[in-house]
Amino acid sequence: MPADMRVRLGQAELPNLVLAAAGCAGAGRELAQFIDVARIGALISKSVMAEPHTGNPAPRLAETPSGMLNSVGLQGPGVDAFLQRDLPWLLSRGARVVVSIAGQTVREYAGLATRLSDTAGVTAIEVNLSCPNAEDAGQPFALDPQRAGSVIAAVRGSARYDIPVFAKLSPDVTDIVTVASACVAAGADGLSLINTLLGMAIDPATMRPVLASQYGGLSGPAIRPVAVRCVWQVLAGATMVAVGTELMHDPSACSRVLKELEEELAAIGADRAADVVGRAHGRMPRGLAWRA
Ligand SMILES: Cc1cc2nc3c(=O)[nH]c(=O)nc-3n(C[C@H](O)[C@H](O)[C@H](O)COP(=O)(O)O)c2cc1C
Repeated sequence: MPADMRVRLGQAELPNLVLAAAGCAGAGRELAQFIDVARIGALISKSVMAEPHTGNPAPRLAETPSGMLNSVGLQGPGVDAFLQRDLPWLLSRGARVVVSIAGQTVREYAGLATRLSDTAGVTAIEVNLSCPNAEDAGQPFALDPQRAGSVIAAVRGSARYDIPVFAKLSPDVTDIVTVASACVAAGADGLSLINTLLGMAIDPATMRPVLASQYGGLSGPAIRPVAVRCVWQVLAGATMVAVGTELMHDPSACSRVLKELEEELAAIGADRAADVVGRAHGRMPRGLAWRA
């Protein structure tokens, strides 16, 4: 009997705990060419902004050992197009949708939360705090506990009470626990860890930065140990997992990760994924066995 992988997220019950990470499945259409999007626990949208944005100049992708750098920026058609086109399409396919939002001011985030609250079918809001703060010389909100907290308080205050609000944190801080605590104190219902790490690649042939924007976000297997460390520091353990960069190599990665997780849980005799959450911090519960 496979372990129970369901998760309750506000009013919604997700059939499983493996999600597609923000920006790595676009608005779902790209992924739907290969897989049934209704089978993913939930799809987290690319971060939606109030207005259309063209993103950063090319080149904006670079492969690195065990990872990739991207400086796509928050390219997207804006919230109106998302609500008119992308969200209805995803819902028509039976997908559960977590909408990632990004803004350049606290007001912009709050406005997006209000817009999404007037719309049916939003399972949760994920607040991308890595966006540059226009009122703080472009410093990302996520780097400062107070500013991150202000965004979350504004979103939580504007979002409909029954829509869970998640704060997506950056690992590029000295003390992620302080930022996480500020977000929870400001009303976050959950935390998403982690966004990309700031990185850079230089082309030895040209001796110039590979990315037009010089820096980019590092993602992929290279950052997994950083993510594990952040989850360990902030939480007792993660309730869900979002798959990002791997989707670009293997669009069916969410199903594969789910299957592998089910096999791992079966091997130790766990009935529910929830039974092993946080176990890295202590002893296994009675009846479950460590794998040799
Ligand atoms: C091409 C690309 C676009 C991304 N776009 C977003 C985004 O719009 N919003 C966001 O919060 N994170 C975005 N991310 C970050 C991912 O959601 C994820 O947090 C990060 O890549 C780490 O997970 P991974 O190593 O599994 O990819 C993006 C990542 C990549 C590679």
